[in-house]
Amino acid sequence: MAMDVRPLTGTIGAEVFGVDVATATDAQIEQLRDVWHEHLVLAIRGQNLTIDQQEAFTLRIGPFGDTPFIEPVAGHPNVIMVVKEASEVANFGGAWHSDWSFQPQPPSATILYAIEVPEAGGDTAFANMAVAYDTLSDEMKQQVAGLTALHSATLPYGANGLYSKVNPAGMTIRTSAEGDEVYAHPLVRVHPATGRPMLFCNPTYTIGIEGMDDAESRPLLGSLYAHSTRLEFTCRVRWQPGTLTMWDNRAVMHYAVNDYRGVRREMRRTTVAGESPQRVVLV
Ligand code: SIN
Repeated sequence: MAMDVRPLTGTIGAEVFGVDVATATDAQIEQLRDVWHEHLVLAIRGQNLTIDQQEAFTLRIGPFGDTPFIEPVAGHPNVIMVVKEASEVANFGGAWHSDWSFQPQPPSATILYAIEVPEAGGDTAFANMAVAYDTLSDEMKQQVAGLTALHSATLPYGANGLYSKVNPAGMTIRTSAEGDEVYAHPLVRVHPATGRPMLFCNPTYTIGIEGMDDAESRPLLGSLYAHSTRLEFTCRVRWQPGTLTMWDNRAVMHYAVNDYRGVRREMRRTTVAGESPQRVVLV
């Protein structure tokens, strides 16, 4: 059966039907990679994956990324479960972010597999940071292209971070002083495969801009976030059990929508290693 790719919106995301990622041919993997670069977020429907099959698919996209702070599945150091129990109110990932952007080489892809999801609610929203950059004024492009953003895991995972006070019932998260480290990345990076310039900042892990105090950096970052998350630049993946969504952390922010109560949601997550972000060069 031929792969069927149906865009979710005019700017970001696509649903994919007609491929079983556990038995995909090399040609199908290459086709998936191409449509992923085009749409940035792929919701691949109708999968039935064991943990081993998810790991094997991930490795066909690239080597595993590093997963700090969260206890992985026993015997599977590169796999974590993202769980919200029916009794819980808070969720994991419920703010705009790009996974592990505080790492020197943040992951290129996250691959999330839905095991148990609410009948309605619990979508994941995505924002296209390449379109966000493209649609800035020339003056703003000039300003942000030369800036360096400071990233840190301090808010959620630092020694006194959020998860030092509360832990999701179905996950084990360990905070540490390592979470307070700060790493600098260009505020506008170039996609290594497509050459597209993209904003690379997010409200969860970007804690400032090099050379600016908070009074100067906060309004600038705030206006970039407001611009990036305009509805025209976003999509939402509505999950079904068996949906496997692969997104490009270099080019999107995401947000796990916490609009469901009293229902369990369980997802299985792997990441693919990325590269050091390269600064855009304006001509
Ligand atoms: C995450 O941020 O990785 C979790 C996303 C989700 O659960 O929808």
